[in-house]
Order: sequence, then structure tokens, then C-alpha cells
Amino acid sequence: LCQVDRVDPARSPCLREAASLLRSGGVVAFPTETVYGLGANAANDLAVERIFQAKGRPSDNPLIVHLSDASRISEWVDDAHPYVSRLAERFWPGPLTMVLPLKEGRISNKVTAGLSTLGIRIPEHPVARELISLAGCPIAAPSANRSGRPSPTLAAHVQEDLEGLIDAIVDGGPAGVGLESTVIELDEDRIHVLRPGGVNIEQLKDAIPEAYIISGTENISHTGEAPRAPGMKYTHYAPKGRMTVVLPKDLDKLDKADQAASYGAVVSYIRSELQRASEQGEKTGLLYFDEHTGDYHRCADVAISLGSLSMLETAAARLYDALRTFDQQGVKVIYAEGCAQEGVGLALMNRLQKAAGHQIVRR
Ligand code: TXA
Ligand code: MG
Repeated sequence: LCQVDRVDPARSPCLREAASLLRSGGVVAFPTETVYGLGANAANDLAVERIFQAKGRPSDNPLIVHLSDASRISEWVDDAHPYVSRLAERFWPGPLTMVLPLKEGRISNKVTAGLSTLGIRIPEHPVARELISLAGCPIAAPSANRSGRPSPTLAAHVQEDLEGLIDAIVDGGPAGVGLESTVIELDEDRIHVLRPGGVNIEQLKDAIPEAYIISGTENISHTGEAPRAPGMKYTHYAPKGRMTVVLPKDLDKLDKADQAASYGAVVSYIRSELQRASEQGEKTGLLYFDEHTGDYHRCADVAISLGSLSMLETAAARLYDALRTFDQQGVKVIYAEGCAQEGVGLALMNRLQKAAGHQIVRR
């Protein structure tokens, strides 16, 4: 573990050492503006194999390749689709992953899990950028958690999951967004959102107004049809306790002003369920928004605020740490307030629903 100053990462000896580990086939965790990634040289089969081993990740789940700038993506993928350059211009560097047709030969086929496409992302975090450019090779990097655990937003989370299994952890402080990148695939005039994340639907729409944006995340859990992002089929982010997400009935149909006022029945439902659980001797956890702080006095053993309903970016940044805290504290029953699926709320609800194993209650 070594610390790197995000203001001037280039001067850090730690970063040079991490880059040389990457070049020589090592696996190194590093901060990005979404979550911490676990990197390896994407052209080196053995190095990539070590990522799968350290994470306990199924080998049919492909990895995203991270580059330090967008100008050379045509070496790895077919970037001819006209939206590619427009999206790159607008969102790179940043939390967007584009899944594009693979050019054969230069990437380990362990990275793509045998698919004919490759996910590419240009991260924005200064430490990630500097590390990738010092390494001088494309870096395959999934989130730096053990498979099935919440993604890490702090170096301490990486230590908790992977200490002793990897070669180094570059600590650049808290990751920014706190949720993973948005993964998209392009097809004629459609943008398929395979995983909602740091770039939201409204921003995609704004960048390419004429595109049809297809966000299939709701269907994935119910139809049993094969998801297009292989990773979405695995249970992810599940805390050890049994979690339920509770949200106002018809929340997404209300306008902003009415949304905030619609949580009355949610709060009373959660309060009574928490009380019932503690009467049964269960250790309880609560995830709530600041607007309802006063309503939950002493209702749960471990109560964690997600910040204000009007600042869901804060909730995104706090969520994974909160889920880990519940596990550390041995919480058995968790209730979480849900939010509207707008802006970052879409990605947030996607992760909450997964954490809850799709146990959703509307009140
Ligand atoms: O923000 C992020 O994306 C972080 C940071 C480290 O960059 N990385 C990350 O990687 O979240 P990972 O491996 O935990 O999640 C990548 C997701 C998985 O669901 C995977 O199945 C999907 O992207 N994916 C990767 N390559 C794909 C491809 N060629 N086609 C479809 N889905 C792909
Ligand atoms: Mg992951």
C-alpha cells in the first residue's frame, strides 16, 4: 500500500513503482473517479489471469480496458460508428465505457472472455491517468473487490478484500462518483445502456439527441433473457444481511416537488419493520435520507445517512462504504429508502435493488 498525491501524481516514486509492476505482469489496485480498479497489462495473458484469480471472478465475465487517452482507440477496436467520436469528445476522460467491435490480436482473449467486443474507458482520475501512461500499456481493470462484494471506494476496502492476493495498492483517497462507469453498446441509431453508472441517461440524450437510448436494466432481472453485459447476471453488491428497499408508490410519476413529500408511508413502514426485527433479536441496519433524520430516532442499531434526497451524488459516493459497514457490524436485517430513477438516481436504484436481491416494497 502506498499513498499518492492526486494533485501531482507524476512526482510520486510509488506511482513509478506501480507502473513498473504493471509492465512486468503484476496486478495493482488504483483509484479511478468511479471506484478502485484492479489493473493488469491487458496484453499479458498471465497477468490478466491473476486478476480473475485474485477476485474469484468467473472467467466468462469480460474486463474493461483502460487507456490514458482516446486518440489511439482504433488500435484496439473499430471506432467507425459516428457516435463514438461524439461521445468520446463529450464524456472522455470520464465514467463512460463503450463496448465496441474488437480488433483481433493485441488484447489477451482472457480480457474479452471470448467475446468479439471490447469495453474501453478513459478514466479521468489524475492518478489513474498518470499510472496508465507511465505503464505504457492498455490496462485491463475490473473493480478491485472480491467478486460478489461491493466495489471499493477507498483503498481500505481493497485491503479488506484483496490484501495478500495482489502486488500493490495505490491509495489516492476516496474514489469520486462512488458507483461504476456507465457501460454502453452502439447499434445503428441506438445506444444500449448495459449498466447504468456515472454518466446518466439524460446526459447521453443531451450529447446525441437523435439517438434512441435503450436502458434495459429493469428487464434483466425479470425476463431471464441473457443480459448483454455478462457481469449483470451475477448477484452483486449483496450485503450479508437481508436488505429491503422501500420507496413511495408511483414515485417516478410525481414531479420533483411532490416526490419529497411522498415518503410518509415509507418512513412508517420502515419504522415498524425495524421494530419488529429488533423484537426478534435481529441486529438492524437503516439507510435513509437526511430529510427523514428526525423520524428514525433510535430505530436501528446501525443507521447510515445517504445525504439529502436533493443531492443524490452524495448517496452514490456513500453507498458501497455503507454496505460494507453493515457487514462489518454484523447487521442481519437492513431497510433502505429508495429514490426516483432520474439522473444519478437510476444507477443508485440499480445498485440498491441488486444489493436487496430485488426485494422492493412500494408504500
Ligand atoms: O467504473 C468502472 O467501470 C470500474 C473502474 C475500475 O473502471 N470498472 C468496473 O469493471 O466496474 P467491472 O469488471 O467490475 O465491471 C464491468 C462490467 C461487467 O458487468 C462486464 O460484464 C461488462 O462491464 N463488460 C465488460 N466488457 C464487456 C463487453 N465486451 N461486452 C459487454 N459487457 C462487458
Ligand atoms: Mg465489478
